[in-house]
Amino acid sequence: MNLTRRLAPLLAPSLLAADFGNLQSETERLAGSAADWLHFDVMDGRFVPNISFGIPVLQAVHRHAQQPIDVHLMIEEPQHYLSAFRDAGAANITVHYEACPHLHRVVQQIKQLGCRAGVALNPHTPVGVLEDIAADLDLVCVMSVNPGFGGQTFIPNTLRKVAALKELLVDSGSSALIEVDGGVSLDNAGALVEAGADVLVAGSFVFNSPDPVATLALMRQQLAAVAAGEEEDK
Ligand code: DX5
Ligand code: ZN
Repeated sequence: MNLTRRLAPLLAPSLLAADFGNLQSETERLAGSAADWLHFDVMDGRFVPNISFGIPVLQAVHRHAQQPIDVHLMIEEPQHYLSAFRDAGAANITVHYEACPHLHRVVQQIKQLGCRAGVALNPHTPVGVLEDIAADLDLVCVMSVNPGFGGQTFIPNTLRKVAALKELLVDSGSSALIEVDGGVSLDNAGALVEAGADVLVAGSFVFNSPDPVATLALMRQQLAAVAAGEEEDK
């Protein structure tokens, strides 16, 4: 069975690594860049040991954004805030498996709001927990660091996990995209695409570079070559 992806992955720079004092210009300069989505990390200081930003900041970013906003909720009881995030401009809403005892209901709620529904897995959570819900999902976010902070080191086991998830999705008839989040750079992005990743989130690698727009263009170019190479190998 061919488990390789035919297209270059979507790129989702994480605004967690942007300059918060200049979110308007940070958002605007990504317009027309190789960014397909803008990744927006919400942290509550409970599910993860850090607090980032929330609904009013999303509203502000959305006013200046050209790309769809990919909201990653690292919060407890996300079910209470789904419609508020949708109203503030979320195109995708991803909740954590570990934060949702009634995950099926939460996923249906997100879809009823008209958003793409995603589920994120912490590094220790096996992909098999999604077996009975895979067909309902639009997105699975594989955390390649422990969530809560930008700038952490990529966990190498993620490659094996992405490949296992790809197989699970194919077997379940699911068209969910596989997103990888944390420590992504051009050191590991090619291998992630080969393993089956469809969406790459990158914070520090993009925003800590001298020219984030050029870095995104370089990622797009190199990963398109990886995807094209896979096509040729078949
Ligand atoms: C981590 C966040 C990530 C983070 C990625 O908890 O979910 O989206 O912004 O940042 P880097 O690419 O710096 O690891
Ligand atoms: Zn994230």
